[in-house]
Amino acid sequence: MKTKKTKRKDKFYLEFSAANRLGICLFRYQLSPVQKFLAVNPALANILGYSSEKEIHKLKFKSLFKNHGDAAEFLRLLKDEKTVRFYETIFKTKDEKDAWVAITASFVESFNASKHLYIEGMLEDITKHKELEEKFAFEQELFQNLLDNLPDAVYFKDRKNRLIRVNRFYAEGFSMTPEEILGKTDFHFFPKEQAQKMFDDDTYVLTTGNPIIGKIERTLLPNGTHNCVTTTKIPIKNKHGEMMGTMGITRDITAYDQMEKSRLDMVMSSLKVLDRVLEIRDPYTFGHTRRVSIIAEKIAQEMGWDENKILSLKMSAELHDIGKILIPLEILNKPGKLSELEFKLIQEHVKKCYDMLKPHSFPYPLPETIYQHHERLNGQGYPRGLAGEKIIPEARVLAIADVLEAMTFHRPYRAALGIKKAVQELKDNAGSKYDQDIVKVILKIINENNFKPFWINNDEDSVI
Ligand SMILES: [Fe+2]
Ligand SMILES: [Fe+2]
Repeated sequence: MKTKKTKRKDKFYLEFSAANRLGICLFRYQLSPVQKFLAVNPALANILGYSSEKEIHKLKFKSLFKNHGDAAEFLRLLKDEKTVRFYETIFKTKDEKDAWVAITASFVESFNASKHLYIEGMLEDITKHKELEEKFAFEQELFQNLLDNLPDAVYFKDRKNRLIRVNRFYAEGFSMTPEEILGKTDFHFFPKEQAQKMFDDDTYVLTTGNPIIGKIERTLLPNGTHNCVTTTKIPIKNKHGEMMGTMGITRDITAYDQMEKSRLDMVMSSLKVLDRVLEIRDPYTFGHTRRVSIIAEKIAQEMGWDENKILSLKMSAELHDIGKILIPLEILNKPGKLSELEFKLIQEHVKKCYDMLKPHSFPYPLPETIYQHHERLNGQGYPRGLAGEKIIPEARVLAIADVLEAMTFHRPYRAALGIKKAVQELKDNAGSKYDQDIVKVILKIINENNFKPFWINNDEDSVI
C-alpha cells in the first residue's frame, strides 16, 4: 500500500511540476471528508485573477462556477463517468468577470486506505476561443438573417454550378426548403434552353472571373407564367484567389417591367397615331409601316439582337415614311410612271423625316436608320448613295422589310407583285443591293412560314 500511495503522489506532482513549466492549469480537489483544494498551480490562479494559488485554496470548487447548475451537472457527470473531458463552462474570476474554461478531470474515489474522494484535473482557458466562436455565430446569424429577409433570391453555386446554399426566398419560389434544393442545378427547375443560358452565364463568371451585373431575363416559372428578373452573378474566390464558385442575386422586376411595357405601348400607340395621319392622307400606305415593323422585328429577333435595339428598329419602322406627309398628294398617289422630278420629290421623304427627328436625342441611331432605309449596298440607293459598311445594320434590315412589304402590296402605280417575286428580288440582289446575311435570315423565316406572309395580322390587310 505504501508503494502505491508513493507512486500515485509522485505521478501527480510530476505532472504538476511539468504543468507549471508549460503554463497548464492543474488542480487536485478533495471532495470528502472535507471539501478543499489540495493543489492548485499558478496558471489556474492566473486565469481566475488571483495573485497566488493560496487564495484559491480558501475557495470551494463549486463556488468557481458562475452557474450552480453547471457545477452540479459537472460533478454528476464525473461521478457517473469517472472522467469528463473538455467540459465547457464559465468560471467567475476574482473580480466577478466571466472566464470560459474547458475542464478535463477524473473522479478518484480513493488511492489509499483513507477512502477519501478527490477530483484531479486540468483546465484550459477558452475565453478567447469562445469570444471568437460567439462572434462567428453572431455573424453567421446576421448573415442568415440578411439572406432570409431579403426579398430577392440569393444562391451560391459550386464550380459545377450546383446549388450549395440558397436563401428562404429562393426556396419558397419553388415551394421547397433550402435543404431540398442543395445539390441541384438550374436544369432541375427551368426549361432546358433557359437553364442552359443560366449555366453558360455561371460558366462565364467562373472561367473569366468577371461578374455579370443586372442582366434582365424573362423566366418561365413552373406554374407556366413568365416573370421578369434582373440577375447579378459574381465569382467567389478563396483567400488564395482560387475560384470556388459563384453567387447570384435575382430580383423580380415583373411589376416594373409591366409598367415599362405600358409606357412603351403608350409611345408606340402615339407613333401609330402619326402613321394614321399619313394613312388618312394617303390611303395607299395603309398598314405599310405596321407590316414593315413586324417583318423588321422578326428578322432582328432571329438575329438575336437585344430588346432595346429591336425596339429602336421597330420605332424606326413605324416612322420611316412619315416624311411623306410633306410630299404633294398628287405625286404620292399618281398612277403610272413618275417623271424624274416627281421621283426626286418622293425621295425627299427620307431627308424630311430625318430633319424632323434629328433635333431630338435618341439612345439608338433611330434617325440614321430612317435616313438610310433606301440606301443600297452597291451605292445605288438614295438619298446619299451610301455603300457597303457605311450603311448601318438597322437600315439594312429596314430596307429589306420595306421592300418585302412594298412588293406584296398594291401601289398606286402597280398591283402587288406577290411574295414569290419579292423573294426572287431579294435572292437576285443579295450581296449587291441587300445584305446577304439578312436576306438569308428572312428567307429562312419565310420558308418556315410556308411562304405565307406572317406580317399580315388582321382582316384589313390584303395580299394579292
Ligand atoms: Fe421610304
Ligand atoms: Fe416604306
